[in-house]
Order: sequence, then structure tokens, then C-alpha cells
Amino acid sequence: TQDALNFSGQVAIITGAGGGLGRLYALDLAKRGVSVVVNDLGGSLDGSGSSATAAEAVVEEIKASGGKAIANAADVTDEAAVNAMVAQTLDVFGRIDILINNAGILRDKSFAKMEMVNWNKVVDVHLNGAAVCTRAVWNIMKEQGNGRIIMTTSPSGLYGNFGQANYGAAKAGLWGMMNTLGLEGAKSNIHVNCIAPSAGTRMTEELMDAGTLKLLAPENITPAVVFLCSDAAPNRKVLVAAAGTYSLAEMVETKGLHLPESERTPEGIAAHWGQISDRAEAEPIANVMEGVAKLVKAMTSA
Ligand code: NAI
Repeated sequence: TQDALNFSGQVAIITGAGGGLGRLYALDLAKRGVSVVVNDLGGSLDGSGSSATAAEAVVEEIKASGGKAIANAADVTDEAAVNAMVAQTLDVFGRIDILINNAGILRDKSFAKMEMVNWNKVVDVHLNGAAVCTRAVWNIMKEQGNGRIIMTTSPSGLYGNFGQANYGAAKAGLWGMMNTLGLEGAKSNIHVNCIAPSAGTRMTEELMDAGTLKLLAPENITPAVVFLCSDAAPNRKVLVAAAGTYSLAEMVETKGLHLPESERTPEGIAAHWGQISDRAEAEPIANVMEGVAKLVKAMTSA
């Protein structure tokens, strides 16, 4: 049996929810009684242009099925506009429990051909945009003693993908931001997690064949994100979701090898590379302090 997750009375801001994955999150949360701020700049895939109609259409859909929602066309990189969105949210709905940082664009190019404008724009929307939105709700959630924040990372950020140095760096940056914010928010019951989706949307339709796109139905991502929005959400985890499979991605460190001073040379490291990189006893490290403790232990037991 599965107990229903309870979202009653909650309020969510979802960025980039005028289409694709964000729209599906908005529809599902609204169905569960969450009041939703549907944010979307309404531009093209590469981040040019804007239009309020994408967000408004999703709001109409939600209202038509009896849910509560408002549209907002703030650019997530525009701090004043994002602060105004948060003020509007408090005005209309009175609180903010959930922030899903989902807005994103693509400007793929091999690094040899990537100009800084393409690097900067992608990092700006994904990484800086998420920082702007998170900062705008952070103290509200702290005072409330409750919050759920989702960062949208990507297999590209975790594992790398040809032609996506800009996007991958931004997506890995979101994971880094989660690691620290999850620590800082924990005592206020703010949980920060990442979703790493793979799904057929306008972002991927040019990159994959029809058969693969069909397997990667975006509807499969929604339950993972809604789980991360709930009371049952873990903290500081990366939930990978694609085609109905859900898994946890984690950074691990090998046990390592404490070298005597005489062997602390590049040659010594080369000679011991097999042991240094041996994954047999690899483990995740909970935070920097635990990492330091591990080093001290290795020294004293060497
Ligand atoms: P999408 O292009 O349908 O959705 C992104 C939305 O963000 C668009 O509606 C767009 O208008 C909006 N947006 C872009 N820049 C914005 C800005 N500055 N301010 C506000 N809104 C803005 O694509 P999809 O696939 O739904 O992407 C959602 C998120 O999931 C993105 O962060 C994407 O990088 C991520 N993702 C998607 C994967 C996939 O396989 N579809 C894989 C891994 C990550």
C-alpha cells in the first residue's frame, strides 16, 4: 500500500513551466491541491525572445480542471523581476513551500567552436537563474521552517556529453549548489535535491530518434519531482529519472592510499595509481568536515 503524500495548503513556484517538463510538474502539483506560480519567459530554445502566452496557457489548463495558478513571465536571471514574482506569490497565495528550478536553454557547440556568449548565456540561465530564484525564497522558507527546493541537473552535468561544455558545467554547478544549500537549510527543514531527467521535449526532440523519444515520455519524470517536493523528500540527493527507471547518482571517493613522504612524488602516484583509484571500498563523503576526518584517519592508521 502507498500512503498518499499530502500537499494541502502548499504553494509552489515552478520556473520554465510554460511547456515541457515544468508544465507537467505544474499540472500534477495543482491536481494535488498545490497553488502554483507558473513562471516562463516564453522564449525560444536558445534563449532568444519572450512571450507571456506559454505560462498563461498552462494556468488556463490548471484552472479549467479546478486548480489554482497564476502566470508569471519573469526572466529567472533578472533579480528584480524574480523578487517581484516572489512578492506577487506572497500577495496572492500567502506562502511559498516549493521552488522547482527548471527553466533552461541550450546552445550546444563543440568547445572548439563555442564562443563565450554561448557559454555565458547558458550558465546564466541554468546556474545563476537558479541562484537568483533560490535566494529570493530562501529566507521566507527559513522563517517558515519548511521548504523544498529542486535543482534540475542533467546526466550531461554528472557524466558529460559531447558539445555541452557550457550546459554540463552549469548543470554540475547546480549539483554543487545543492550540496551546500542542503547543509545550510537542514535545520530549517529546507531540503534541497536535484532531479536528473532524460525526456522527450523540445530540448531533446532534435537530438534523438522517434523510438527513443517515445520511450523517454516526459510523464515519467513528474512522480520523481513531486516526490522531491513532498515531506518524504530526502535531502542533498540526485534522483535520476528516465523512461520509468529511477536511480540515485552519488559522488564517491576511493579509500585512497596514504603515501610515505619519500613516495609523495608524481612518480610515486603513477606507481600506485592502481591502488589510489581502486573502487572496491569507494564511499560517498557526507561533507567537507567528513572528508577531513577521513584524511586524518588515513594518516593515523597508515
Ligand atoms: P523546455 O525547453 O520545454 O523547457 C524549458 C522552459 O524554460 C521553456 O518553457 C523556456 O521558455 C523556459 N525558460 C528558458 N529560459 C528562461 C528564463 N530565462 N526565465 C524563465 N523561463 C525560461 O525543455 P525541458 O526539457 O522541459 O527542460 C526542463 C529542464 O530540464 C531544463 O532545465 C533542462 O535543462 C532540464 N533537462 C532536460 C532534459 C531532457 O531530456 N528533456 C535532460 C536533462 C535536463
